Amino acid sequence: MFVRELSPEVISRISAGEVLEGPTDCVKELIENSLDANASRVKVEIVKGGKRYISVLDDGTGIHPEDLPLVIRNHTTSKIASFEDIFKIPYYGFRGEALHSIASVSRLVIRSKHYTQEVCYELKAEGGRVCYVRPSACSAGTQVEVYDLFYNLPVRRKFLRKEDTERKKIVELIKVYAMARPDVSFELISDGKRVLFLPRANSYRERLEELFGERFEERLVEDQYIRVRSLISVEPSKAQVYFFVNSRPVYNRELLEFIRGRAGKAKVVIFLEVPPYLVDTNVHPKKREVKFYKEGIIKELISEAFERKHTSVLAQPKERYGEKFEVLGSIDDTIAVVRIGDFIYFFDQHLLSERENYEKGMVEDMACRSSIKAGHKLTKQQIESLVKKWFSFENKETCPHGRPLYYRIYIGDVYKKLGRSF
Ligand SMILES: Nc1ncnc2c1ncn2[C@@H]1O[C@H](COP(=O)(O)OP(=O)(O)O)[C@@H](O)[C@H]1O
Ligand SMILES: [Mg+2]
Repeated sequence: MFVRELSPEVISRISAGEVLEGPTDCVKELIENSLDANASRVKVEIVKGGKRYISVLDDGTGIHPEDLPLVIRNHTTSKIASFEDIFKIPYYGFRGEALHSIASVSRLVIRSKHYTQEVCYELKAEGGRVCYVRPSACSAGTQVEVYDLFYNLPVRRKFLRKEDTERKKIVELIKVYAMARPDVSFELISDGKRVLFLPRANSYRERLEELFGERFEERLVEDQYIRVRSLISVEPSKAQVYFFVNSRPVYNRELLEFIRGRAGKAKVVIFLEVPPYLVDTNVHPKKREVKFYKEGIIKELISEAFERKHTSVLAQPKERYGEKFEVLGSIDDTIAVVRIGDFIYFFDQHLLSERENYEKGMVEDMACRSSIKAGHKLTKQQIESLVKKWFSFENKETCPHGRPLYYRIYIGDVYKKLGRSF
């Protein structure tokens, strides 16, 4: 007998190498988990470029104490339940592999307080084996600490990149996630020194300007399904292109080349929002590469964003947003339900009215106080008038405090759910 089955432990260690090349991948996975847990604050700490120590601390929903020993098992996830779910997930993660991989090749401590619990718990694992789970002291959210990555894979540890190289990669990585999520504050401490601190920003533009110290112009171009938000540096600067799809930093060679060809000497950041079924993020183990259906349309919209580079945002043709709409009703006198094109929009009536007042020139506080409140009954005509005004807003996305004005669902998805074609 020459063949034998490898023990699960050996298999885990081997496959950990596929998910994790080094500390940077580890930090990436942990940041994504924090964002998936709805964190508004992410603090990363590294020692020796992450080789000796990595900690990612967040103020998210936390992990339930009963789940603590489960999250480091393979393919355990709270994010999807069926295969179909991966076509609509709003999460960064879904394979349930990251914590398992990290745990298999490090000494790991997870401290977490679930939002439903009074007490915080701590789990320690070594080489994937749970040492203990016990009550601990910590504040709301989660902290994952990773000591001595690859300590039990000495050859791999030896071939890790230099500390300095890894540190730079981690700084760049955090910047990229900070671009994608201006609503979250990010901090990086490296060898005891704070090297990055980005407080929560009110818009993509504000975050980018803070990050690069340059001015950016923002354009929004959309059709029925796809929305392209592009931010282009105003003064000539070091040409750089960043590309995000549904808030995920991704790589697609063809599109990157396409964007570079138009960017000239500018920094360009493109955020593409597409219905999840038009993009396949599952083609790459690290979900870095994506495939698009309807790539032609995406290119057209991107081109359009560049053509308008020197015109004002207000000059955008309004019909882009579809002048036709239908008020379907209201939920709890708080959320206006409106069909626009192939989407059902759920507008927060208070925020919509607040934005309107704000755009008319009031300051934040006044705009808030003089706005229609949640729970106030509106007639269909009043909702119609609010939506009409919304079409002309300069910022159609958020209230003056940064909360989203609406949530929308694609009607095609509803049809699909019901087994009908759209
Ligand atoms: N920072 C965190 N806050 C809350 N829950 C977390 C956090 N990190 C991990 N988890 C939980 O652990 C599970 C496993 O994480 P992971 O191995 O990265 O897989 P995935 O992100 O693909 O679900 C997640 O599905 C989530 O339920
Ligand atoms: Mg994950």
